[in-house]
This record gives sequence, C-alpha cells and structure tokens, in this order.
Amino acid sequence: MTATPAVEAYLVLPTPAAYGEAIDRLRAASRAYYAGENSPLDDASYDALRLAVLAWEAAHPGGAPESPTGLVADGAAPEGDVAHTTRLLSLDNVFGPEQLIAWDASLARRLGRPVEGGFTVEPKLDGAAVAARYRDGRLAQVVTRGDGTHGEDVSHVVGSVVGLPELLAEPLTFEVRGEVLFTHEQFETAQEVRAAHGGTPFANPRNAVAGTLRAKDRPYRLEMTFWAYGAVELDGGSFPPSGGTHAEVLAAVARAGVRTTADTPAGLHVVSTVAEAQERVDAIAALRAGLPFGIDGVVVKANSAAEQAAAGLGSRFPYWAIAYKLSAVERQTVLREVVWEVGRTGVLAPTALLDPVEIDGSTVSRATLHNPADIARRGLHLGDTVTVYKAGDIIPRVQAPVPELRPADAVPVPLPAACPNCAGEIDKSQERWRCAKGAGCALAPLVEYAAGRDVLDIDGLGRTYVRALIDAGLVTDVADLFTLTEEQLALAAGSARRGAKLAEQFALARTRPLSRVFCALGIRGTGRRMSRRLAEHFGTMEAIRAATAEDLLAVEGIGPEKAPVVVAELAALAPVVDKLVAAGVNMTEPERPAPSGAPAEDGAAPEGGPLAGATVVVTGRMTGRLDGFGRSAMNELIERAGGRAGSGVNAKTTYLVAAPSAGGKPSSKAVAAEKLGVRVLTPEAFAELLAGLLD
Ligand code: IVH
Repeated sequence: MTATPAVEAYLVLPTPAAYGEAIDRLRAASRAYYAGENSPLDDASYDALRLAVLAWEAAHPGGAPESPTGLVADGAAPEGDVAHTTRLLSLDNVFGPEQLIAWDASLARRLGRPVEGGFTVEPKLDGAAVAARYRDGRLAQVVTRGDGTHGEDVSHVVGSVVGLPELLAEPLTFEVRGEVLFTHEQFETAQEVRAAHGGTPFANPRNAVAGTLRAKDRPYRLEMTFWAYGAVELDGGSFPPSGGTHAEVLAAVARAGVRTTADTPAGLHVVSTVAEAQERVDAIAALRAGLPFGIDGVVVKANSAAEQAAAGLGSRFPYWAIAYKLSAVERQTVLREVVWEVGRTGVLAPTALLDPVEIDGSTVSRATLHNPADIARRGLHLGDTVTVYKAGDIIPRVQAPVPELRPADAVPVPLPAACPNCAGEIDKSQERWRCAKGAGCALAPLVEYAAGRDVLDIDGLGRTYVRALIDAGLVTDVADLFTLTEEQLALAAGSARRGAKLAEQFALARTRPLSRVFCALGIRGTGRRMSRRLAEHFGTMEAIRAATAEDLLAVEGIGPEKAPVVVAELAALAPVVDKLVAAGVNMTEPERPAPSGAPAEDGAAPEGGPLAGATVVVTGRMTGRLDGFGRSAMNELIERAGGRAGSGVNAKTTYLVAAPSAGGKPSSKAVAAEKLGVRVLTPEAFAELLAGLLD
C-alpha cells in the first residue's frame, strides 16, 4: 500500500501564451499564499499548474527569465531585512513511490555511491517556516523565511508560540528552524477570537499563520505551535553538535527545551533504506486524519550530516531532502445551496451542497456547516468559492469563503424562518437553533416509520397512538417503545383490549432481524435495503458498532461520503441502542441462504485465503464462471477468499474486477484503476484466482 499522490492529472500547456498565463497565475497565487491572503488556487491546483510550467520549461530550455519556478518560495514570499545566517531553503517534491526511488538514485549519483547513513522520515508540517534565534538561552528573535536569504522580523509572536519557549534551561546560543502552525484546536479558537474582534475569517490554518506572523499590531494575540525540523549554529557558537546526524541534531534541540518533529504524534523515524522510508511515509499518511494539525506531506532526509554536505544544495532546495507530497485534503469549490435537516434532538443541522470536487481520493459534494451563527461568522454566500477540508474518515467541512472570488450575484446563505421538518417555530436562544418542539419534532415521524410494516411491523401502532405516547412523555426515542407496560399501552390506546394486542405486537417486534432493528434507528442513508446489507455483512449490532468508516466501505452502496456519517450517527445513538439491548430486542441477523450460483456458506472468511489482505472492487456484469453473480454474491465470494470488498477504486484497492464494457469504453472505475496502477482482472481471470472456492 502506498500513499495517494497529490496530483493525478498533469496539465499540458499548449502554447507560449498559455505558459505565460500559467506563470502569472502561479505568481499571483503564491503572493497571496505568502502574504496570508486567500489564494485564488488551492494547493492541488497550484501543484498541478506548477508541474505543467516545469514540464514546459524542460521542453523549452531557457523558459522565461522571470519564471517563479527557479526561486525559493516561487519568489513570492514577502521580503524582509533580516539576513539569514545561512540560506533557508525550500524542498523539492515527489508525488509517489517511483519518484522517491528516483530521488534516492539521484542522491546516489551525487555521492558516487548509495546512501550509507540511512534516512529520516518526519511529517511535513503545513504552516510557515521560521528561524528562531536563541542567545544565552533566551529567545532573542524570530524571523520568517522570506526569500531564503532575508526574512522579516516577527519577534512580536514571542510568548504566544507553544513549543518555542522564551527561556531555555541552559544558556545556549543557536538558531532553530522549523514550522509555526495553528493546530486544529488553536485554529478554531483563532477564528472565534477574530470574529469577536470583527475580523474576517481565515480561509485555513496555513493562511492564518502567514497572516498572524505579519500582523504586528492586532489588538489580540493568537496562540500557535512550533516544531523544529533543523538547527544551525549562531554567532560562532558550538551548538548544535556538528558532524553527527539529523536525528541527533533534533534530539539535542529537544533536550534544550524546543519541540521538534520527533515530538509530534507522527514522529521522526530513522530507517536504512528508501523502501523502509516509503513504509514510514505510508504510515504517517495513514495517521494524517487523526493528527491534531495539518500536514501536506512527509519529508525524507539523508540522516548523515557528512552525506548531506557531500550531496550539497541547489538554488532552491537541498539535494539531500525531499518532500513526499500527500493528496490535498483541502480544495476549493463552489457553495451552491444549504439544506437544513432536523436531527433527533430537534437541532437544525445545515449541510452545504457543493460542486463536486475530488478530495483525498473521493468526490465530495456535501459538507457539514455548524450553525447559523457560524455561517454568519464565516460570511458564507451561496455562489462563494469555499475551502473544503476532508481527511480520511472525517466528514468534509466547509472552512471559509474566498471573498476575492465572490461573484456579483452571490447572496448570504439564507437561514430558515420556520422548522424545515414541521414548519413550526424555531428556538433561536442558542447558537444551535432547534425546533421549538425539541426531540418531539422529528420523533413522531421516526417512530411511525420504525413501527411500519417493512421495519418493526408493529401492527396497530398508528399515528394517533404514536402521538399520544410522545405527548404523554412515555416515548422519547424508538427504544422506549420496548419498555412500555401493558397498562401504559392500554392508556394510550384507550382500551385494555387494544393495549393487550399492542403488547403482543411489541413482543413480536423484539424478535425482528437485525436489519429491521437497525433500520428503525433512522440513521441517515440507511433505509431498508442499506440496513439489510449492513446487517448481512456484519451479522450483529456489536460488529456494526465496532466498524470503522473504512470497514463500512466494504458494504455495497456505502461510499466514502456515507461511511463516516453512519459511524457518527450510530455512535450518537449509543444510548438508544443500549436501551434496545437492555429491553431484549434481537441484535443479530439470521444466516442468509447462499445466493444462487454462489458456493454454499462455510462459515467465516478464512484467515489466509487467496485474497488475504486484498481489497477488491467489482464493476459491471460478471461473465464466464461468475455469470449470474450479483454484487452481494461477489462480495460474499471475496470475503470467503479472505479479502475485503470495496466500493470505490482508490490507492488501497488491490484488484478491480471489471467485465469488458459493451461499447468498448472503459468504465470510470477502470480509468481510475489505470491511473492508480491498480490491477484490473476480467471476471474469468478472477474466477481463475479463486478456482479452489468455485469448484
Ligand atoms: S526541511 C533545508 N522538514 O516545507 C531543509 N521542511 O515546502 C528545508 N516543512 O520550507 C526544510 N515540515 O517550511 C523540512 N519536517 C520538515 C518540514 C519542512 C514542513 C516546510 C518548510 C519548507 C517547506 C518546503
């Protein structure tokens, strides 16, 4: 498994005019980026355009003399007047395993032999580079990277950067280099503080850092965090110790009391080979969604100082280090509409409908917004270009608009005047608006749905009784139905006979299969069919509750957008599920007969079947020996072979089983597979692989 590359499609610039326009756009975007303003291009688009410019320049030697690609920070960082002790360089990028191997080979060419001192692997923190000068153990000055030779004095931040103490335990003199950033938590606080001071929201944490470093006269201070990724001597001092390794330098810096990349949850790893480095890159990429701050890649460095010196420096970057870029987790797209749904507790939850955009391997078209106050604070307009953030299992969220790109006809996001569910009054007393009926608003339709024939099939529990039970305060969620006594039912139904009949029905409802019980929970996107698939796939409620969003992707019809929603909603329903369990409601799905054409069930998936560890995606109608195998039969077959059935092709996919398409035009999944280097098998070849299971 390798990390997904950030840029999958490289643009080709057709004419000199297109090249000229591209460098103008690059320059405008990087100027905005380094000035802490909103960039008209998101990172992925910037990287793609930059690669196209580089490709043009490679094919047309000489290029434009004014091209930004040959300069540190693409020549756009604000200039400063503080001379750096030694140049602060940038990093060259790679986007995939082959390019990492090629970098290793180029390093070996420079050294005249393979790298012997091993590599370090650490996160590429997505903030702003600074050099912090300690003199006699006191933080004397903080300087931005600037153009690499001169930076800006931003010492006003001293005292508000976690990890960069004002005083060290020892009177050391040295310069530490690293990245200042806002952790996710610090960023949310920063947005609130800024809004409280009437400021416009930051588009993203990185913008916020650039802006905060430059803003010397704000009436408020925002806390940021620093992690060092290097250190150099200052004023001829003897710290850090020279001649050792990068890992040793960072360890010495950490002992001095300054935080380093080794202190981040992603850590600093020392490895011997570039293949091991790739494994670490993948491991850090897998951690990314759970990190408390943004990373945009992983940095691999030759560990030995002697080898670093021998490899040398280019004009923009050292030859001994490389940034392995990860796919962008933040993109820009257009906010088209905001829809409001009433949650189980009556809270009005806004969802942004977006122009579909590819983020971190999946297409995002919906994202969460928080509440009306937050929408107003962010100043969101319909028609705005907005930054959208999504990493791994995280539900995509809208961060902020890019006001510079706002069209003339954009309108502020309209807020609902009445409850979108019952058209009743809205309680606006708190930031999160609620239907004035609270949980009662969404509860009645949910309970009626749960009692319906295709769900729990509680004959006789119609609208009138449901309302009566809710109004009497006896039912506050679906699980309460199962704790009602015969007397309570009789009271609500208006007669002892009807009460007794209803009690009988409830006894029956307790024995319904898991698929129906799950459906009764009313989790978004899990109607009858999806609940059945989930129940059949996992077998027990316990297993569904233990499943991660990634596990859910193995269920047909659950994609990367739906999976985290199901996980989050099921987790929020924990008290209801616990009550159902306590009330003796059945929580298992009966074994399903083998689908026609498929082999008979023989229990659990084998540990080491022919597909052990593989993720398989199936597309199109099966042919040959698999003729007649529907999607669930295929999923079952894959699981019996020890594999995992996936729904969408991504970097984790091992095989795509694709029937040749009728018109000869490859399916979108086949195109994606080719792009990602995923092996595509015909149904016949796949059947061959699983011959033992099909005999
Ligand atoms: S090493 C001479 N290590 O990424 C070596 N840089 O895109 C230069 N960055 O300018 C930098 N995390 O601001 C290094 N672990 C890390 C980093 C890192 C973030 C930044 C740094 C650099 C930029 C290049």
